[in-house]
Amino acid sequence: MLPRIPLCILPTPCHILPNLTQKLGSEIWIKRDDLTGFAGGGNKGRKLEFLLAEAVNIRATAIVSCGATQSNFIRQLGAAAITQGIKTHVASMHAPFEIPDRKPNGTLSHGGNPQLDSLFQIQRHHFADGTWDELESHADQIQRDLESQGETVFRIPIGGSSPTSVHAFVLAAQELTQSFDLIITASSSGSTHMGLAHAFAGSNTKILGISADPDPELLDDLVSLSESYAQDFASTPIPKTKINFSLDFVGPGYGVPSPDGIQAQMTLAQTEGILLDPIYSAKAFAALLDLAHRKQLPPKTLFWHTGGLPTLFAHRA
Ligand SMILES: Cc1ncc(COP(=O)(O)O)c(C=O)c1O
Repeated sequence: MLPRIPLCILPTPCHILPNLTQKLGSEIWIKRDDLTGFAGGGNKGRKLEFLLAEAVNIRATAIVSCGATQSNFIRQLGAAAITQGIKTHVASMHAPFEIPDRKPNGTLSHGGNPQLDSLFQIQRHHFADGTWDELESHADQIQRDLESQGETVFRIPIGGSSPTSVHAFVLAAQELTQSFDLIITASSSGSTHMGLAHAFAGSNTKILGISADPDPELLDDLVSLSESYAQDFASTPIPKTKINFSLDFVGPGYGVPSPDGIQAQMTLAQTEGILLDPIYSAKAFAALLDLAHRKQLPPKTLFWHTGGLPTLFAHRA
């Protein structure tokens, strides 16, 4: 058993959405990882139970990672680290991008997550917008600086996606007590999506990841993540052709709400009283509604709600 530090309230609820089921004519269920509880909830708490244990194991005095200003991962990371007396340093950009002509405008830079980050004493090192690779290099430099000052640094990649985080979602899938034809989840750094994909590989359940970022190379990143998980956890990698991943619902860019996502947010709020975040879960839910409108929903679908609610309270820049 891998070392794990409990943070979340698990298992999260899983329930049918009665009004939407009636409206759409096929069963729609929801897995409430927005209710993991820790530091405002969301999918990242599951990964952090394992990542934090790894940091404690090497006696880290500091954790270094990176993300967008509105990163949900950074918020939960800072909260997790502070429970163990570990400092969190992050390289951040308002709007990291991969494709220059899809450089987003109007990302949310105030309120929401950054406001909570200060409660957790996260040390933010802010940089002008650039690519994700540049953001990772800034984090590498912060790590080197801290190490030269005598700190023991535990380095976590963007979104906390590592083989251990994939494992966290393989375990999460075991919380389900019934089967589904289709599971839809938001996907970005990929470990939520790949964990579910590994958990259901070879079964009749299709896992569909809805990207929050327009980078077409993300599919290759999912393949690499699956390969490294398979290597570390004695599993079989999922071939590229078997990964169901859509870039169709990103809208204007990473970190920017999309018209379809806003519509999806209103639909779920006004039928079931459940909130979606505008950047990840609303775009994934828009994909579910799109399948419904095209009459392509199977009899039983599960929406894996990944949380992210603080961005609902962010102001437009
Ligand atoms: C609310 C929310 N949903 C989904 C995701 C995507 O999860 P992953 O990074 O595991 O792909 C994120 C990642 O930042 C998130 O914050």
